[in-house]
Amino acid sequence: MSQGQFISHYTADALAGAAAQLKSGRLVAFPTETVYGLGADATNSDAVARIYKVKGRPADHPLIVHLADMQDISDWAIEIPDYAIDLARSFWPGPMTLILHRSQLAEDFITGGQNTVGLRVPDHTIALAFLNEFKKIGGKGVAAPSANRFGHVSPTTAEAVSEELHAFLDPDDLILNGGPSFVGVESTIIDCTAAAPRILRPGAITFEMVEAITGLKVVNRDDVIRVSGSLEHHYAPSAQVVLDGYPRPGDGLIALDSTPTPEGVIRLASPMNNEDFARQLYGALREADAQEIDQVIVIQPDGEDIAIAIRDRLKRAAAKG
Ligand code: TXA
Ligand code: MG
Repeated sequence: MSQGQFISHYTADALAGAAAQLKSGRLVAFPTETVYGLGADATNSDAVARIYKVKGRPADHPLIVHLADMQDISDWAIEIPDYAIDLARSFWPGPMTLILHRSQLAEDFITGGQNTVGLRVPDHTIALAFLNEFKKIGGKGVAAPSANRFGHVSPTTAEAVSEELHAFLDPDDLILNGGPSFVGVESTIIDCTAAAPRILRPGAITFEMVEAITGLKVVNRDDVIRVSGSLEHHYAPSAQVVLDGYPRPGDGLIALDSTPTPEGVIRLASPMNNEDFARQLYGALREADAQEIDQVIVIQPDGEDIAIAIRDRLKRAAAKG
């Protein structure tokens, strides 16, 4: 039997049961609007240690703590600047993670030893109901990275979570099935520890949106891809991803619908616009592996909207491992 039980029927009892399992130290994978997360009680070091084991992730990589409500940030963060409150009021629940100075609750096993903590209120009915049930029984927050093995493509369906992790989960761990994630790329990460916000990872909440709400100039705005770290091989399928090339017969192709499919090329996605592109991208990369395609050509979308996040992830997926 595959490990990690699937739950697809959301009675209040089922979610309360999942929250109780989480409280007792089990892992619960859950849907969010960005990608699926692999959750553990963020105050339980043993449970959090299992996240790292199941993902095969280095222990110094910090985790995002997911909260039921914006009010809960004062449990986890201190010295919260006004502009961070403005961002939270505007974009939570939503695809945005704020990096803030940590409180005592945010221990080293969450922050990777840093003095900051990442916090997010996701915009997904099932995630919020689950987080609220956890809060009702005294839970403080749910630590959750994307529910994939380290370096792989993030899962945007419960089936993809199971494919990634079933060999590593225990029979008592759970996977909540909430259908496909409707954003499809990970949250925008905004460092709020300095006088002005700094975007560490682009996502659906864009520079323009952050500047419009805060009235502040986003630091390193033009350098976002460089500040978000070295060009490590990440978000990557087994297939080789090639950006903006011309596909040969047998290659996979991911491009906007307006791009035609040459003879013999396997069309993996034909999104209608950039939002649709983000929603379909990770599923299409997984499909390339399912079909054992060696090489996937991706024609990158233009634009300063979510296309920035798509190009950021593609650059990493295409980087040589
Ligand atoms: O959309 C998302 O953010 C998804 C869903 C599940 O919420 N989560 C996600 O988590 O993408 P993960 O662990 O795969 O990526 C989180 C990133 C990591 O690169 C981590 O280094 C960074 O956030 N991060 C977390 N806490 C941080 C901190 N205190 N300072 C700087 N970076 C941090
Ligand atoms: Mg991840």
